[in-house]
Amino acid sequence: MGCGDGRITKEMGQIFKAKKVRGFDVYPSLVKRACHNGVDACVMDLENGMPRGELAVMWGVLHHLKERETCIKRISENYSMVFIREPIKTISLKVFEMGDPIEKEEFERLVNKYLPGAQILYYSFCVFVFYSKNGVS
Ligand SMILES: C[S@@+](CC[C@H](N)C(=O)[O-])C[C@H]1O[C@@H](n2cnc3c(N)ncnc32)[C@H](O)[C@@H]1O
Repeated sequence: MGCGDGRITKEMGQIFKAKKVRGFDVYPSLVKRACHNGVDACVMDLENGMPRGELAVMWGVLHHLKERETCIKRISENYSMVFIREPIKTISLKVFEMGDPIEKEEFERLVNKYLPGAQILYYSFCVFVFYSKNGVS
């Protein structure tokens, strides 16, 4: 979700040993670059739509969206497994990532509501979420 130029998407595909990887981004120029980098990518605005699949990976995208709650809700409806990495609001964060980083409390509220039982881990200025409908071991 929000694959950008596709480089991290490709790495994620290898890490998760995915049989098939698809990328989605709102900017056609980035989708073109992702395709050039070997990702089967297409244009999609995640504010208005959500693809379907097995494992959704969202790396640094949620803080670019206005409708975050709707997006997480749709992900939980359309995927059985979810991996999210998000920057969390800190004083120094604006230097590193654009967009409007989410507050820790608000992020946990959304995860607990739509991805119940998910593992939430904090590392540096980021939060990592692992979710499976069958539970995470
Ligand atoms: C910080 S970049 C992360 C890109 C990629 N996940 C990575 O880590 O390399 C955020 C990405 O979200 C995409 N994005 C922002 N708003 C979006 C939207 N409404 N629908 C789909 N993608 C969006 C941007 O185009 C950008 O590629």
